[in-house]
Amino acid sequence: MRTPFVAANWKMNKTLPEALNFLQAIAGKLPNQAEVEALICAQSLFLSQMMAVTKDEPIKIGAENVFWHDQGAFTGETSPKAVASLGVDYVIIGHSERRKYFRETDEMVNNKVQAVLRNGMRAIICVDETMGQREANEKVHWVVSQVIEALKGVAIEDADKITIAYEPSWAIGAAAASAKEAEDGCYLIRQTVADMFSDEAADQVRVLYGGSVKPSNQAELMAMPNIDGVLVGDASLNPDIFLQLVNYQQK
Ligand code: 13P
Repeated sequence: MRTPFVAANWKMNKTLPEALNFLQAIAGKLPNQAEVEALICAQSLFLSQMMAVTKDEPIKIGAENVFWHDQGAFTGETSPKAVASLGVDYVIIGHSERRKYFRETDEMVNNKVQAVLRNGMRAIICVDETMGQREANEKVHWVVSQVIEALKGVAIEDADKITIAYEPSWAIGAAAASAKEAEDGCYLIRQTVADMFSDEAADQVRVLYGGSVKPSNQAELMAMPNIDGVLVGDASLNPDIFLQLVNYQQK
């Protein structure tokens, strides 16, 4: 059985004091990790402080991006080795905003996935689909090809370190996909993992849906057979709403 996963992506929001206030507000109110795994991915510059104040809480702190080289002359980049040295477990890779604003290609995403695994961390790989692609009915090819490219060269033994998030960019910060649309995307992703690796690997890999998730639509989404959790942007910035998300009632 795959543990339900509620992951926050704070994006480029919050200062250090705001992040620490948030963590203070949720302390002692989080669910048991065996029931729901909770994660907050935040800007790398204060991951260390966030980890220190949550060390006794059932929550993990993750990064939103890393570079693919471990070290070297890459001014301004974030080293995966340095992030791993903080004890960080999860890194989001290939978010649609990085693909769009920073021109990240499938090849870069693949290099970053390898860097995350090489440094002993887990990758949350985002795959995306624009409204244009959806309307042109290219969804199948597009999502499948991003999964295939992202997982190239990944060893089957590392399958349990991979989480894939179906995040159609038309549903981010807009109207969420319906539970059926989200399930279709997540099903496709799991099938692709089964084709590339094995049915057992596909069974282990957690697949999340992201795009305008809120407490009001979360339970319906997470009741779908191939949706193991959610990756939440806006709604995760408020501690009360985040607590509702991690303490959701299964349908
Ligand atoms: P919203 O929840 O704000 O739509 O963002 C989704 C997202 O991009 C999570 O990675």
